[in-house]
Amino acid sequence: MKAVGLYKYLPIDHPESLLDVEVPKPEPHGRDLLVRVRAVSVNPVDVKVRSPKDKTETKPKILGWDAAGTVEAVGEEVSLLKAGDEVYYAGNLNRQGCDAEYHLVDERIAARKPRSLSFEEAAAMPLTTITAWEALFDRMGARPHQLAEQSEQSVLIIGGAGGVGSIAIQIAKQVADLCVIATASREESEAWCRELGADEVIDHREPLPRELQRIGMGEVDYILCCNSLETYVPVFAEVIKPQGKICTIIGAKGNQPININALQGKSATFCFELMFTRPMFQTPDMAAQHDLLKETARLLDEGTLRHTMRENFGPLNAANLRRAHAAIEAGHTIGKVVLSGID
Ligand SMILES: NC(=O)c1ccc[n+]([C@@H]2O[C@H](COP(=O)([O-])OP(=O)(O)OC[C@H]3O[C@@H](n4cnc5c(N)ncnc54)[C@H](OP(=O)(O)O)[C@@H]3O)[C@@H](O)[C@H]2O)c1
Repeated sequence: MKAVGLYKYLPIDHPESLLDVEVPKPEPHGRDLLVRVRAVSVNPVDVKVRSPKDKTETKPKILGWDAAGTVEAVGEEVSLLKAGDEVYYAGNLNRQGCDAEYHLVDERIAARKPRSLSFEEAAAMPLTTITAWEALFDRMGARPHQLAEQSEQSVLIIGGAGGVGSIAIQIAKQVADLCVIATASREESEAWCRELGADEVIDHREPLPRELQRIGMGEVDYILCCNSLETYVPVFAEVIKPQGKICTIIGAKGNQPININALQGKSATFCFELMFTRPMFQTPDMAAQHDLLKETARLLDEGTLRHTMRENFGPLNAANLRRAHAAIEAGHTIGKVVLSGID
């Protein structure tokens, strides 16, 4: 089958950083689905895995952890989905990615795609939706239904216009009923955050405490950090409410140590979210990702949530994927970047 892969980890402007390759078509066993990939989206994790290093592969390394497609065959233990189903999923970082004609994914981390979305629109959603949902509900303990006790609560989403921020704004607003303050640094990204339902938008190039004061919100109940943890961690203690919760989806740049001692005075919770944890460690509750993708498909179909696809870079091939990686690597895309399936 056709795929886009790499043997060497090179800068994205190098013509061999991503190559059109032929690899054997995989066979599904156990709880795996064999999916004919119809569209993929690109995430910063693709860029991080591809980042230049002195390492070579003997077989092509295939990237891509966000897809929508049609189930072609299933393993002998599959019970949640069947051949012919149209599915969407992010996958498992420990396995080959989805930038290929066919791909294997465990049924417990996939679900039927929203019927109202195209394959491209659906492929934009899984990785970021799982991240935002797990961060808000599983890690920080917000409640996924309107509850009176929560109606006055607020969340600060740092990096509001990015892939994760774009769906986090909507889930926080529409599902958790929180007052949403998003950050954006440009007119276009600010407008996008407001369009998605942010109550307030502040500028992350300015000091966050001052920006929050400006809009009359000194402290917030929750913080979701989607960018530059090392820049913002020093002000978390100032802007989180007593007993508030902070979740970061990124580590500090260059693995530098971060100091969270100042959070003790407010008994604030600080936690991490990595959406690959469940599939990578095969946790007993990994089917929670099937459930949440099923629920968000319902919310997308009924119009409570909207897809976040902004740009389609064309059919999946090495040249188009290199362009998409370059856009993500630049760090200022809005919403999601997708590609259609291999011709
Ligand atoms: N832990 C997980 O499971 C998980 C899952 C998904 C992503 N991630 C990680 O989370 C990060 C964000 O992912 P993403 O898909 O949302 O990225 P993205 O779509 O590439 O984010 C782009 C956005 O980042 C904003 N931004 C740029 N510099 C910023 C800064 N200094 N402070 C705040 N925002 C800034 C930009 O807004 P402006 O143009 O307005 O500045 C832009 O809209 C990446 O590092 C990614 O690897 C982790």
